[in-house]
Amino acid sequence: AHLVAGVKISHHKLSLVLLDFEGEQLAAEECDLPAPVNAPEVLAKAIRDAVTHLATVAGRRADEVSGVGIGIAGIVEANDGFVHWSPSLSARNVEFGALLTRTLGVPCFIDNDANLVAVAEHAFGLGREHSDFLVVTIESGVGLGMVIGGALYRGTRGCGAEFGHTKVQLNGALCRCGQRGCLEAYVADYALLREATLVSGQDATADPAKRVETLLDAARAGDATARSIVERAGQIFAMGLANLVNIFDPELIILAGEQMQFDHLYSDAVIEAMRKSIVQVDKAPPEVVVHKWGDLMWARGAAAYALDKVSELALERL
Ligand code: BGC
Ligand code: NA
Ligand code: ZN
Repeated sequence: AHLVAGVKISHHKLSLVLLDFEGEQLAAEECDLPAPVNAPEVLAKAIRDAVTHLATVAGRRADEVSGVGIGIAGIVEANDGFVHWSPSLSARNVEFGALLTRTLGVPCFIDNDANLVAVAEHAFGLGREHSDFLVVTIESGVGLGMVIGGALYRGTRGCGAEFGHTKVQLNGALCRCGQRGCLEAYVADYALLREATLVSGQDATADPAKRVETLLDAARAGDATARSIVERAGQIFAMGLANLVNIFDPELIILAGEQMQFDHLYSDAVIEAMRKSIVQVDKAPPEVVVHKWGDLMWARGAAAYALDKVSELALERL
């Protein structure tokens, strides 16, 4: 029998699912990466071992897996898996797709992580009934997947949909991409935590999600510093959403990712600020919804992508 695996690469862990060719899920797993693994070869081997383990858990053999889809943050050319830049890799310009295919011994298909969330939403999520929608993901970075006219839109160089690096401030805060003033440098978890050390109750050694929670608690309890950090993030995010609406006029915007477990980016104040910045017409603004599904659904998007690619390869062989 033929199987595909889907993998989401996060900072400290891999999330994986195994599907059969009918799209039925046979197994799902998460595994920690020892420290931030970001040497491409080491990460490729970790993915190979995790896929092998996943197959074993499902009572299958690794050589039954005929393709692996992988979502990674950063600028990825989906056609050949060339990674121009990724916060998950220590080097720029890595032929990561080729490296993965070599290391795993099966065709590997990489795409930008948020793009694959859009694939998941389109295939079996809130985007099923829609042909024009956007998925904005917020966790360690801010990502975007765009479904336009029923298809994922990647840009002409495969480098599009980098919402997190749209500029919101001249000479602004330093972003992890190396530039200044990017939206995610004000909105992502690391951006909030950059200033959070000034807030009471912050334990700089706790994990980022825990620290964001402490920050939000402090803001709710009236801590002025915490409030200004959180409110600024919300206002900048609202501006970004309004920009997306003004450009794309989508039917729907889906907000996903770890940070959406909190409500500071989906408060009445944020939605109100977004609405005010949308070009005013006599029609209702697009719906904005939060979809709190976990990393395994991202991995399912990656698997769905692999399924597509594997069938394309099979057709080419006919
Ligand atoms: C990256 C995007 C990615 C997003 C979410 C951003 O920093 O540039 O490519 O989709 O983080 O992981
Ligand atoms: Na994207
Ligand atoms: Zn940036």
